[in-house]
Amino acid sequence: MKMAMVLFFTLLCLSSLLCPAISQPNLSSRTYIVHVNVPDTMVLSDSKNFDKYYRSFLPLRTSSLDLQPRMVHTYRKVVRGFAARLSPMEAKAIEKMQGVLSIRQQNVFSLHTTHSPNFLGLHQNLGFWEGSNYGKGVIIGVLDTGIADGDHPSFSDEGVPPPPAKWKGVCEFNGTTCNNKLIGARNFVAGQSGPPVDVEGHGSHTASTAAGNFVKGANAFGMANGTAAGMAPLAHLAIYKVCSPEDCAESDVLAAMDAAVEDGVDILSLSLGLEPNTSFYADSVAVGAYGAIQNGVFVSCSAGNSGPVNSTLSNEAPWILTVGASTVDRSLKATALLGNKDELDGESVFQPRDFPQTLLPLVFPGSSGDQNATWCAEGSLDNMDVKGKVVFCERGGDIARITKGQTVKDAGGAAMILMNEEANGDTTIADSHVLPATHVSFSAGVSIKNYISSTSSPVATILFKGTVIGGDSAPAVASFSSRGPSNASPGILKPDIIGPGVSILAAWPFSVDNTTNTKATFDILSGTSMSCPHLSGIAALIKSAHPTWSPAAIKSAIMTTADQLNLKNAPFIDQTGSPADIFAVGAGHVNPSKASDPGLVYDNQPSDYIPYLCGLGYTDDQVGIIVNRIISCANETGIQEAELNYPSFSIALGSSAVEYSRVVTNVGSADSSYTLKIVFPPGVIVSVTPSRLEFSEVNQQLTYRVKFSRSGDVSQTPFVQGSLQWMSAKHVVRSPISVKFT
Ligand SMILES: *[C@@H]1O[C@H](CO)[C@@H](O)[C@H](O)[C@H]1NC(C)=O
Ligand SMILES: *[C@@H]1O[C@H](CO)[C@@H](O)[C@H](O)[C@H]1NC(C)=O
Ligand SMILES: *[C@@H]1O[C@H](CO)[C@@H](O)[C@H](O)[C@H]1NC(C)=O
Ligand SMILES: *[C@@H]1O[C@H](CO)[C@@H](O)[C@H](O)[C@H]1NC(C)=O
Ligand SMILES: *[C@@H]1O[C@H](CO)[C@@H](O)[C@H](O)[C@H]1NC(C)=O
Ligand SMILES: *[C@@H]1O[C@H](CO)[C@@H](O)[C@H](O)[C@H]1NC(C)=O
Ligand SMILES: *[C@@H]1O[C@H](CO)[C@@H](O)[C@H](O)[C@H]1NC(C)=O
Ligand SMILES: *[C@@H]1O[C@H](CO)[C@@H](O)[C@H](O)[C@H]1NC(C)=O
Repeated sequence: MKMAMVLFFTLLCLSSLLCPAISQPNLSSRTYIVHVNVPDTMVLSDSKNFDKYYRSFLPLRTSSLDLQPRMVHTYRKVVRGFAARLSPMEAKAIEKMQGVLSIRQQNVFSLHTTHSPNFLGLHQNLGFWEGSNYGKGVIIGVLDTGIADGDHPSFSDEGVPPPPAKWKGVCEFNGTTCNNKLIGARNFVAGQSGPPVDVEGHGSHTASTAAGNFVKGANAFGMANGTAAGMAPLAHLAIYKVCSPEDCAESDVLAAMDAAVEDGVDILSLSLGLEPNTSFYADSVAVGAYGAIQNGVFVSCSAGNSGPVNSTLSNEAPWILTVGASTVDRSLKATALLGNKDELDGESVFQPRDFPQTLLPLVFPGSSGDQNATWCAEGSLDNMDVKGKVVFCERGGDIARITKGQTVKDAGGAAMILMNEEANGDTTIADSHVLPATHVSFSAGVSIKNYISSTSSPVATILFKGTVIGGDSAPAVASFSSRGPSNASPGILKPDIIGPGVSILAAWPFSVDNTTNTKATFDILSGTSMSCPHLSGIAALIKSAHPTWSPAAIKSAIMTTADQLNLKNAPFIDQTGSPADIFAVGAGHVNPSKASDPGLVYDNQPSDYIPYLCGLGYTDDQVGIIVNRIISCANETGIQEAELNYPSFSIALGSSAVEYSRVVTNVGSADSSYTLKIVFPPGVIVSVTPSRLEFSEVNQQLTYRVKFSRSGDVSQTPFVQGSLQWMSAKHVVRSPISVKFT
């Protein structure tokens, strides 16, 4: 069965790629990814040797497939293997050949800010942004739909130095698109030639969120107006286009990761992923990311948009930073005013100034019980009189929010009130609607429905209130943000972190409202696709401030310093308004300045994952696919997942106690002393030895052991949570703890 690789944002159907239902790719469907062992005797530096060796696996016999080249990609840097077009019979034959570790048909991936820098405590000419040089000298590789062609100001190189000498990448644009900001741009979509032009918008949006330059007066439909900037505004960007308008093919994604690491990127940002429940060896993002960290490259990925259901994560390998999405304290407020004077707040990007504030007839096409009309599905309003009325629609039916508005507009409706599904609760999303509209919460929708049924002539209008800053329940977890626990590795707590991913303003390759003829075009999008590049940019800032830190150290710094409270100083809430649990927030909400000064880090070398992978029960070949060499798990001391030196804990606890060790590295001042604070998960005793850590040198490592056992209390729930914190005069190094009773 084919799985879809998706872009992780929650939006509109601009093309089939951006629609919920992904069209099955045809050309790519016969592409197989083959992992092979490379004999030690081969000279790895010679690419001709590689090609020759890889070609030796391909069938000699010609077939109709030979009208197009057989070899789609050859991989050299992050994995050993290639992608080729094959018939099922040929694939079976190759599987039996000596040296082949695995062969499988490729999957397709789906793609999963004027304000977010300030919301994250980053201010121009101040503090950490200045201290990290705005990411100067760091190269962020973005794998996505490409990049806006033609001098978009977010990709101006004002203030950006030339790329570092190690940079080996290329620019496939002929014009002036590439510069010191945009130092590389390549197209990896198989069968496509020409430069990596972004015809979707998603890639320009994510790239500018990570490292867009400062642009004054950025807005969409006049909303969210201000100075737009990415998280690392003076970092370099290298663009790898891996998505065609139809899909993002796995073999192309792997080829781009291979090239990006060879080119010399420092950070990889991937706002795309496979469906949940994929084993690491069968997931090219996980496999490619391991090759990346082997080369010191940090990998940040979106967690997916399949929330709020449990165990819906993508990109959950422990060597990847898995990023969930949360709100910022800005709303683009559009309030539904009802005839009974009730006002219910919602959101929209499109806010026409001239919309009359007089009450108009309010109609709910679904009141008769017709499901399609409830959703305002295409064609369902044909026989209804909605002309000049405010039309009430519910989300659902796999129909894009903006498409519902188009249907209402086509039927002559004056405006739309769009009600959330129950599962999405209070998470409302500002969209660039095609008519006056507001997206309201589930509970607001229930009130509006009650009002409609309470009167024979319901009326309503929408009051457009513009950009409103100061929502003190932010950051709150977005309903769509994928949740743990991880199925691929339950012993690792995921997601790792949450960051801004709701109603994010960033670069867009073309005007969304036709009102501007400038090149400074922007749009507002939501999804973990948007939160991932925030963390990619923040990782670049930390890399710029600490060039020698490993990917695992940067990740640990981000996680152990994360915030635990919202602007009200209360625990984070989710779409239900109740406290969000550990499988929604992971270590918490990113705090960039604190992440630059964590005190201690939980470091890992790439080889430390080998005992972990053996411990997961993978075969030698499966581990070999990931780690790029021949492995014998019999020769390794396999470890339990929870024994990996990870900055968080995910523990399975039966009647007997379990004990794990952790190693912390001092990256603060030489003489520092840490004491312990434990927030006990209910029903669990956590004991740590030693309970004090005394460091006398920078980079000194100390080990502690932590034992989990059940207290007498019988737990009412299968999962409980707590935390373990090492505290010095200057630092709090916090690890969240999740315990599952077994
Ligand atoms: C693939 O393309 C061929 C030829 O264009 C067509 O006949 C076939 O139906 C397509 N298959 C799918 C699954 O779309
Ligand atoms: C770019 O320039 C090269 C060499 O002049 C030419 O072959 C190629 O077609 C050009 N590509 C585009 C997209 O203009
Ligand atoms: C955006 O803000 C700038 C500076 O305050 C202002 O000059 C400009 O008119 C604003 N644009 C819109 C569309 O509100
Ligand atoms: C993932 O696997 C678990 C069991 O391992 C199963 O309960 C769950 O439904 C699966 N989720 C998906 C989305 O397939
Ligand atoms: C997810 O798991 C938690 C326990 O950790 C449970 O309380 C909650 O009801 C589950 N949510 C869903 C949507 O299954
Ligand atoms: C609802 O729309 C779907 C898709 O267009 C259609 O197949 C179905 O028959 C419609 N249902 C009703 C009750 O009209
Ligand atoms: C923008 O202009 C194009 C082409 O003229 C048109 O198709 C599109 O509907 C316009 N969009 C808006 C939002 O007005
Ligand atoms: C495993 O250990 C055996 C015995 O020490 C050795 O012969 C073999 O080469 C090792 N295999 C690997 C893959 O390291």
